Amino acid sequence: MAPESSNPTTPDAAKAQKAGLEDVVVGTSKICFIDGKRGRLVYRGYSIDDLQQASFEEVIHLLLYGDLPTKDQLARLKERLLSERKLPREVTSAIISMPHSGSPMAELRTAVSLAALYDPDANDNSPEANQRKAIRLIAQMPLIVACINSLRRGKDLIQPSPTLGHAANFLYMINGEVPDPRAERMFDVALTLHADHEYNASTFAARVTAATLSDIHSAITSAIGALKGPLHGGANEEVMRMLLEIPSVDDAEKTIREKFFAHKRKVPGFGHRVYKTMDPRATILKEFSRELGQRQHESKWFEMSTRIQDLIVKEKNLYPNVDFYSASLYFVMRLPIELFTPIFAVSRVVGWASHVLEQYANNRLIRPMSDYTGAGDRTVAPIEKRTPNAVL
Ligand SMILES: CC(C)(COP(=O)(O)OP(=O)(O)OC[C@H]1O[C@@H](n2cnc3c(N)ncnc32)[C@H](O)[C@@H]1OP(=O)(O)O)[C@@H](O)C(=O)NCCC(=O)NCCS
Repeated sequence: MAPESSNPTTPDAAKAQKAGLEDVVVGTSKICFIDGKRGRLVYRGYSIDDLQQASFEEVIHLLLYGDLPTKDQLARLKERLLSERKLPREVTSAIISMPHSGSPMAELRTAVSLAALYDPDANDNSPEANQRKAIRLIAQMPLIVACINSLRRGKDLIQPSPTLGHAANFLYMINGEVPDPRAERMFDVALTLHADHEYNASTFAARVTAATLSDIHSAITSAIGALKGPLHGGANEEVMRMLLEIPSVDDAEKTIREKFFAHKRKVPGFGHRVYKTMDPRATILKEFSRELGQRQHESKWFEMSTRIQDLIVKEKNLYPNVDFYSASLYFVMRLPIELFTPIFAVSRVVGWASHVLEQYANNRLIRPMSDYTGAGDRTVAPIEKRTPNAVL
């Protein structure tokens, strides 16, 4: 029976439409620009190469409020972030009672959703309250991740530092020691590089939720759920697990051929919907991975990664994305692999919040259509006359 389309698009139009909304422009934004052919990423007019000299706090100001801060504005923002560097007791208790055997991203998603109930602005969705909630979420998410990490490792909870910056405090709460300035700087830049990326899957999920005029915590919870998937943020963990399976640098090519090419499996950390060349974030992270690997006398992971890059570029014409070199960088920073994706969220929450605020400021419900390809009209037969299908 020919399907009867319930909407006005023709079968030809449906065929022409690419799956996964590829190349489809679904909205406007003043926050982020990607040039996928040239490999450029720009936040509010500033290239990420240039933004490497700014601190993550300056980038938070840029993404949320539209401009880089003055000295006074930066001081005020830091003060506000510091004053929100605390978790509601109920949220900490809930994390303590969660099972720690599953995904930390699931714990993070649940904790952020719960934080909505204890937020002082819980019932206020005015623009001012949303700005406050955005800052609170940015300040709280590193604490949630650190809390999850301590519990999973059976360690005491580490109290946040009242003096360290955003990046250094996070590293301190994960590793229990104040990071050396160079590692702190690299991590700070890594946070900047992950902070926004236009209408990526998780940001789009956040905007769709916000566009129903639901609250900002609901939007960020949607985004965390989307980031968790291995085709999105989850890829950085898969990259490191892949590297750990390779016996030595010289085995890299053989292992990839056997474990991935032979089974037509996708190699994590390669390919991108928008970039058709090297992801500019990967270029910066690659250099950090090389430098820190050398300093820690642990270049193995970097060298393995470059061998894999050479192979995939040559054989598949695919380039590393942001998740490829962040894996070896975070690993030599002694960050637990299972935290790689939550760390992505700790940074990307800035982009999500900026997009949610932008969505609220000029909102229209996001509600696309689908081309119906199911059965044509049918009539309901009495139950004893129906034929079973293959489901049960
Ligand atoms: C990022 C990603 C989801 C983009 O997906 P997409 O735009 O839908 O591209 P597709 O999955 O349709 O891939 C297009 C082609 O390239 C191939 N390809 C894409 N990424 C690949 C990879 N990492 N390894 C091997 N082949 C890959 C696909 O198999 C497909 O080949 P085909 O046309 O012969 O079937 C995809 O490249 C991927 O899954 N990468 C690995 C996961 C990852 O690193 N995610 C993080 C993204 S920042």
